[in-house]
Amino acid sequence: MTQINYEAEPLLHVEGLKQHFRISRTFTTKAVDGISFDIWEGETYGLVGESGSGKSTTGRALIRLYDPTAGKIIFNGHDISGRLTKDDEKYLRQNMQMIFQDPMACLNPRKKVRDIIAQGLEIHHLYSTEEEKEEKIMSILDKVGLSKEHATRYPSQFSGGQRQRIGIARALVMNPKLVIADEAISALDVSIQAQVVNLMKDLQDELGTTYLFIAHDLSMVKYISDRIGVMHLGYIVETGTTDEIFANPIHPYTRSLLSAIPHPNPVVEKRRIAMTYDKKAEGVDYSLGTLHQLTNTHSVLATEEEFVKWMEDAKHFEG
Ligand SMILES: Nc1ncnc2c1ncn2[C@@H]1O[C@H](COP(=O)(O)OP(=O)(O)O)[C@@H](O)[C@H]1O
Ligand SMILES: [Mg+2]
Repeated sequence: MTQINYEAEPLLHVEGLKQHFRISRTFTTKAVDGISFDIWEGETYGLVGESGSGKSTTGRALIRLYDPTAGKIIFNGHDISGRLTKDDEKYLRQNMQMIFQDPMACLNPRKKVRDIIAQGLEIHHLYSTEEEKEEKIMSILDKVGLSKEHATRYPSQFSGGQRQRIGIARALVMNPKLVIADEAISALDVSIQAQVVNLMKDLQDELGTTYLFIAHDLSMVKYISDRIGVMHLGYIVETGTTDEIFANPIHPYTRSLLSAIPHPNPVVEKRRIAMTYDKKAEGVDYSLGTLHQLTNTHSVLATEEEFVKWMEDAKHFEG
């Protein structure tokens, strides 16, 4: 593991980010409704939560596929939240890259792998000679475990896991500061998932890349993340180091997510009780909560009363 300097300025600082979608004159979906978090250079921040929580919207807002409704996004000193200046846009396009769940949907089927990977380099003129460009392409292919021969083939000629390697190569060839991986492994077989996650970890060690790793499956997030943010219905309800989230979950939503993970030991698994959490039934209104700090890395979104109650409940929780 690379050493992360949490004393430094974070690579990404997000404050009060909102992304609302106006559906009709009377209805707006508040996909992301005021989230704040930081990601430090070289770390992996896992964003977890059930489908519809606003995870993808968060990723897309950060990389500016949308214009955020409100909030501040500071990316390595560049304010990328409002109208982008030419320089900031250029910085963003080079230094923040995305890996998607279904690479087939975003890899042009009529282009050879080589050309797919070359595209970003060409748009941003990230080489001075053709040889240098070729070298960069071949070097990244090698790093993701693909060969020279693969370069002249088309996406359809690859397996799901290999296509994800192409997606990773296309992102990393830009030498980005931050890679947003949105459910990048969710569609793969479990055995292949582990391979791709290990590849991402190795590349992080080698290149120092920072990851925002979005997933609904907590087990993989646990394995790859330094810190985790738990997202539910547009809010980050709890954030902490991976240890803090797994060993001392406070928010009932976090605890219900954890209780849904099957235990590898069948004896323990037999005793596992899946917890249910019904926000409405419990009268929880996220917009009334404030961040309660347990440690300087662990915080929970709650009202005063909720915080007292959840801390008490957590004492009786067996992780
Ligand atoms: N472009 C959009 N227009 C309208 N509603 C959207 C749009 N994108 C997402 N949503 C809604 O925002 C909520 C969060 O979606 P999403 O960010 O995709 O969640 P997740 O990735 O956690 O599954 C959902 O209710 C979804 O239907
Ligand atoms: Mg999603």
